[in-house]
Amino acid sequence: MKIQIITLFPEAIEPYLQASMLWKASDRGIAKYHLINLRDFGLGRRKQVDDTPYGGGDGMLLKPEPLVAAIEQAKLNDPDARVFLPTPRGKTYKQSDAKRLAADGRGMIIVCPRYEGYDERITNWVDEQYSIGNYVLTGGELPALVLVDSVVRLLPGVLGGEMSAEIESFQLDDTNIEFPQYTRPEEFRGHTVPDVLLTGHHAMVDTWRKQHSKKP
Ligand code: 6GU
Repeated sequence: MKIQIITLFPEAIEPYLQASMLWKASDRGIAKYHLINLRDFGLGRRKQVDDTPYGGGDGMLLKPEPLVAAIEQAKLNDPDARVFLPTPRGKTYKQSDAKRLAADGRGMIIVCPRYEGYDERITNWVDEQYSIGNYVLTGGELPALVLVDSVVRLLPGVLGGEMSAEIESFQLDDTNIEFPQYTRPEEFRGHTVPDVLLTGHHAMVDTWRKQHSKKP
């Protein structure tokens, strides 16, 4: 899956893509990352990407021309790709969205807003708008990484043996979370491991895990 991220801060995103499972996915050729610096599409000698809002107000907005030029460039690289816009005004991103995006396998183009926002007309070049929760962030970079991480880990061959059949049988959906887990030692500073997990009784372990897989 080709994943293109349009951002003014590629240096904020790059290290995360170079570590752990996301790196492994690209090393195995399962995901391919391409960072596009929005500044390269800025207007004029000063590479301007922002401007003041019509109607007044504080702060600056991303201008439409550089954003759409960057999206069009990304589309040339991958014509079938879907375009995503992380925004607090989008619908809340869910595990079911990650599953759908991983399953359909189309490439992703993620546009990261900054400053106080963007010219709303760019949404005409966007397929899906997502918020990652009810709080405000300074830009779309962290939400973009949330989308990438949640989708890439579901691509075939990324987690491989690390996702046991047992865990898969409790496949996470929008309401279930993973059960708590324990490893050695059996007692740590007075805190013990739940007895049922030490029994080797698989049916009882399964029941315990199901009971503990709901959000509080
Ligand atoms: Cl997608 N963007 C920003 N700036 N803040 C957010 C968000 C997105 N989701 C939750 N807060």
